[in-house]
Amino acid sequence: MLVGDLKVAARPIRSFVRREGRMTDAQKNALERLWSTYGIEAKSDLVGKSLPQKNSRVTLEIGFGDGEVLLALAKKNPEGGFIGIDSHRPGAGRLLLRLEREAVRNVRLGIGDAAELVPTINPGSLSQILVFFPDPWPKKRHHKRRLITPDFLGVLGEKLQLNGCLYIATDWQEYAEQIVHAVDATPVLCNQAGHLAFSERPDWRPLTKYEQRGLQLGHQVFDISAKKI
Ligand SMILES: C[S@@+](CC[C@H](N)C(=O)[O-])C[C@H]1O[C@@H](n2cnc3c(N)ncnc32)[C@H](O)[C@@H]1O
Repeated sequence: MLVGDLKVAARPIRSFVRREGRMTDAQKNALERLWSTYGIEAKSDLVGKSLPQKNSRVTLEIGFGDGEVLLALAKKNPEGGFIGIDSHRPGAGRLLLRLEREAVRNVRLGIGDAAELVPTINPGSLSQILVFFPDPWPKKRHHKRRLITPDFLGVLGEKLQLNGCLYIATDWQEYAEQIVHAVDATPVLCNQAGHLAFSERPDWRPLTKYEQRGLQLGHQVFDISAKKI
């Protein structure tokens, strides 16, 4: 952006507002103590170098929140590798404490903007990508903040291996419709339910606090699943 004669770097539009909230001492301590075991930084081989080799099938969850999904799936599938990315440090601190307490070894976490971290993942290295209940940004003037866009789906598609799957869920109908259209516009992804259709809720998808709240408000939940072709 040019302002007068000055070149000013445009600030990226983010899908989150950096509001850390209060971090407990236990969460702060967990981040300091456990980061060297579970934490990953942006680098060109985000997946390959971070997980033990035996974890050949790698799942990425974007926006893991409190980590209920990552924790449940990682415990159920000890041979799989799981990577979580979220921008919210207190949630990461909470999850780290549970990973330690429950001796879960096949999870690694990245803290930051998925729009910046995901592009650093090696192409074709993920077997699944999960994005459950991305912030809906309901006001029209905020739609530009939504994480799922055709461009971002293109990046996600590039990171999936052939026949790898992307699973998205939202309780915001208008966002869900925008997402199925965006999937349709992404050449490397094929909607598993058919043209512009929603999928059944996968039976392995754990119920999160966020989803529970949506259901209590009477919201319908929409699942979208797409395969890398
Ligand atoms: C509405 S919450 C849903 C959390 C969780 N998936 C669930 O179902 O309970 C959305 C989450 O996405 C995270 N988030 C939003 N934008 C993000 C971004 N660009 N990169 C990483 N995390 C993001 C937020 O910090 C928050 O934890």
